[in-house]
Amino acid sequence: MTDIFGWKYVHFDIIGSTNDEAKNYCSGLYGKTIIHADQQTAGRGRRGRNWVSQKGNLFFSLVFEYNLQKLGFLVMISALSLAQAVEELSKQTKPQLKWPNDVLLNGAKLSGILLEKGEGNYIIVGIGVNIASAPENSELLYRATSLKDNGINCTAKEFLRIYLQKFNYQLNKIAENEITYLRQEWLKRAYGIGKSLIVRQEEKTEHGVFSGIDDNMALLLEQDGKIKKILVGDVFFENGDKNGRI
Ligand code: BTN
Repeated sequence: MTDIFGWKYVHFDIIGSTNDEAKNYCSGLYGKTIIHADQQTAGRGRRGRNWVSQKGNLFFSLVFEYNLQKLGFLVMISALSLAQAVEELSKQTKPQLKWPNDVLLNGAKLSGILLEKGEGNYIIVGIGVNIASAPENSELLYRATSLKDNGINCTAKEFLRIYLQKFNYQLNKIAENEITYLRQEWLKRAYGIGKSLIVRQEEKTEHGVFSGIDDNMALLLEQDGKIKKILVGDVFFENGDKNGRI
């Protein structure tokens, strides 16, 4: 097994889902591990959805011990590190962060993050990035884009290396309790502050104005002058296309 920036690196040409494989690494035997695959046959998205996993794109899972009480911070840095990796590759590109954990380029979704609890204190952060192509499918919840569509050329492995450096840096910030710094970095890139939005949850739908996030990554929704904290849901902005997609 090789090592990249302090993480054990496990590579597969093809696999069902890197998040599923990561479950086998929730043990002190391995330490911090990355599972990277060139292709997935059963890639999973948030809330039971499928994640289209085309060759040329990046699919990986980070598996490591983490204090689950600080889960909100992890959501924050997982997406923030993606945005920073894009910024490092292209200074003129301005990625935006869409709550809870999407990265947008020109209003379309570049990547997805699926956080899952592993065994014991282990957490699995599964990330998909559209490097070379974006899935085209009218069933997609949000419009998709790729780095290539935005004139950024790099390989999946190159992106992974840049991401890991950013992620390690932010993980240290959590350890140092620099949460205000992390929240500010997230908010600097936030998509849609002050815009009207709809949050679709399993049982209900909330409407309001996006007013920011708190330190635990809850979405702050203004409704009739009052702030409501939202912990889960799919966000749609009212300036989206006919399906409400942005
Ligand atoms: C989303 O719905 O936006 C989250 C998508 C997460 C996809 C990644 S790809 C690598 C890892 N393995 C999976 O099966 N899912 C995550």
